Amino acid sequence: RKPISLPRLAQLHASGEKITMLTAYDATFAAVADAAGVECLLVGDSLGMVCQGLPSTVGVSLEAMRYHTESVSRGLHKVQATAWLIADLPFGSYHQSPEQALHSATALMQAGAHMVKLEGGGWTAPTVRFLVERGIPVCAHLGLTPQTVHALGGYRVQGRDDAGAEQLRRHALELQDAGAAMLVLEMVPAALSASLTAELPRCATIGIGAGRGTAGQVLVLHDMLGVNLGKNPKFVRNFMQEAGSVRGAIEAYVRAVKDGSFPDDALHAW
Ligand code: KIV
Ligand code: NA
Repeated sequence: RKPISLPRLAQLHASGEKITMLTAYDATFAAVADAAGVECLLVGDSLGMVCQGLPSTVGVSLEAMRYHTESVSRGLHKVQATAWLIADLPFGSYHQSPEQALHSATALMQAGAHMVKLEGGGWTAPTVRFLVERGIPVCAHLGLTPQTVHALGGYRVQGRDDAGAEQLRRHALELQDAGAAMLVLEMVPAALSASLTAELPRCATIGIGAGRGTAGQVLVLHDMLGVNLGKNPKFVRNFMQEAGSVRGAIEAYVRAVKDGSFPDDALHAW
């Protein structure tokens, strides 16, 4: 397998082959996920909850993101990995100015990321353009954006009413125009994410709780392995139950995303 690149991701997107993504926070799981065939690994700021025991992603620092990105990157280099490595810009690290975002993104790129992800639409478009113009690939993130959970009033489905859906569509188109090559859609109605996907030829949509109509899927690794304290979000499938090993579970996830059997409609009531 050849290392995944932006052109390769664009090719997958154009061909209609589903793109697979999982979170990774450490060297060993990163290498296992890569060997299991996951195309994109996301050092998500969900590591705040998964690794640090924080109540939300709001408390995650840039230094924590840098540390985990470096660990994941090292794990990948050890095994001549192929995965495309995305790292989250944490809360407060890109909000002040495009220059602040560049400074933060530089730290993650130098830790081994190939792309950075940031949350939100509207005000973020100039920042995305600023980073992309300077050679930093960007993944956007709309719908339920966990860093703004306190403003949103909880972890709930977004874009449900006409006004919300229209705003989401406008933000998505602006982000594509700004040069975002990927867009995570989290907890968005399936019909909306499917129609957005068709309207974004240059920006691959990656869904989580957004139905099956996106260009790809992402899950939190620990959730899909059934390793967590609380109850899983409704859109998660436990792949460990069927597979019996971590490697097997991740391979089953890749197969299920590729053949369209994950997510199924039962996992997605909105
Ligand atoms: O931090 C994270 O894990 C994420 C994904 C759920 C998209 O942003
Ligand atoms: Na995140």
